[in-house]
Amino acid sequence: MPKETLSIVVLISGSGSNLQALIDALAAQSINAEIKAVLSNKADAFGLERARKAGIPGLFIDHTAFSDRLGFDQAMINTIDPYHPDIIVLAGFMRILSNEFVDHYAGRLINIHPSLLPDFKGLNTHQRALDAGHKKHGASVHFVSNELDGGPVIAQIEVPVEEHDTAETLRLKVIKQEHIIYPRVIQWFAEHRLRLQGQHIYFDHKLLEKPLLLNSLPASQTV
Ligand code: GAR
Repeated sequence: MPKETLSIVVLISGSGSNLQALIDALAAQSINAEIKAVLSNKADAFGLERARKAGIPGLFIDHTAFSDRLGFDQAMINTIDPYHPDIIVLAGFMRILSNEFVDHYAGRLINIHPSLLPDFKGLNTHQRALDAGHKKHGASVHFVSNELDGGPVIAQIEVPVEEHDTAETLRLKVIKQEHIIYPRVIQWFAEHRLRLQGQHIYFDHKLLEKPLLLNSLPASQTV
């Protein structure tokens, strides 16, 4: 029996290069998934252009028009739910979400963060990795919980921190890897291989003891 297409809504605030990577991967890699809508809290987010160019509805909700976080989050829920998404993909969405929003999408809300979580939650992750003298840095894809950049981590990808690295060279190295890891994780969702139960992730029906490290997989292996 053919499996149903995974419905995705992507939330962005800016450039949307991760959104672009996902659009490209869906087009090129026979991933059984469709981006139903892209929602931004910034009118000038370049990601909205990317969405429209790909024929995906690009929507804008101005968070400054709401007096409180909950009002904005409820407006987002009202906009997202008619698309009946199987997963909500945060791709550079730079707003803290209310517990109500997170609970509403429990188990189907994922985020990408530019660090090897639990290291460097929050902003300026690349500079902080340099300042801390870390030899490895990278990106993590995780289920979203009520804690900022918290929640069970699904997969990580590492990059080496080299002598000559600056925050900008590190950022470029990491985001290149983000564009690989995020579509891969979404492919696993499309293949019904990932599930969150409580705070535990199941991958291929087995409890995931630690995040999948994509670097350790041969390029040819699709996990
Ligand atoms: C990405 O590096 C993403 O990991 C980060 O914002 C950037 C968005 O880039 N997200 C966070 O820091 C979330 N805490 P993009 O708009 O080009 O995809």
